[in-house]
Amino acid sequence: MKLVVLNHKMNIAYNELDTYINALACIKRDNIELVVCPSDIYLLKFIERGFVVGGQNVSFNEKGNYTGEISALQLKSIGAKYCIVGHSERRKYFDEDSNIIHRKIQMLLANNIQPILCVGENLSDKEKKISKKVIMEQIALSIDGIPKDSLKDIVIAYEPVWAIGSGMFPSLDYIADIVDCIKTSIKQVTGVDIRVLYGGSVSDENILGLQSIDILDGYLLGNVSLDTKKMSNLTEKL
Ligand code: PGA
Repeated sequence: MKLVVLNHKMNIAYNELDTYINALACIKRDNIELVVCPSDIYLLKFIERGFVVGGQNVSFNEKGNYTGEISALQLKSIGAKYCIVGHSERRKYFDEDSNIIHRKIQMLLANNIQPILCVGENLSDKEKKISKKVIMEQIALSIDGIPKDSLKDIVIAYEPVWAIGSGMFPSLDYIADIVDCIKTSIKQVTGVDIRVLYGGSVSDENILGLQSIDILDGYLLGNVSLDTKKMSNLTEKL
């Protein structure tokens, strides 16, 4: 069953929310695991309508005087099952490095929330043909020291930074090669089978091609997740 994660980012106003939820509730989702990651203020709304939800971000601190932050315990206490960490927008605009991401993963695992760890190369890494090296370094630093028992709960989202929100889409061979490298390397080093998603300009048009990559465990969807008509087209093809 494919894991399909919707990353709303900082979108959808409150007066648009009911229309969105009503439409999303109608799409075909019996054969997928759908996870909605809305803005935190809407998490309960989605939970009330029976959706599985995840956070888009979490504090690396446990609790206390950290204005504006949300803790893993708070996410857990309202019923979140997953949380995205290390998204390239957080790395870029909020200076998140692998050390911070590592701490966030530890907080999530300690609260039984499954981290969705985003990794990916930028365009210059791709041109220099060092994508795999960059990605495997990101993963190694982020999961260093995490016990094997917990590793299986981590999901990796491979998102080429240059493909996110850009409409640029890698070749299927390129994606398959990188996903295979991630899975094989983690299996070799830890013995653990880890789920790997693809994200970056996924659409209702290119989803069929992605479906031909059978080692892919699902998708992380940004822009397309905001358009319920396109979401409906997309999930019909899964
Ligand atoms: P996109 O975003 O689908 O709009 O490219 C994906 C993401 O940022 O997770």
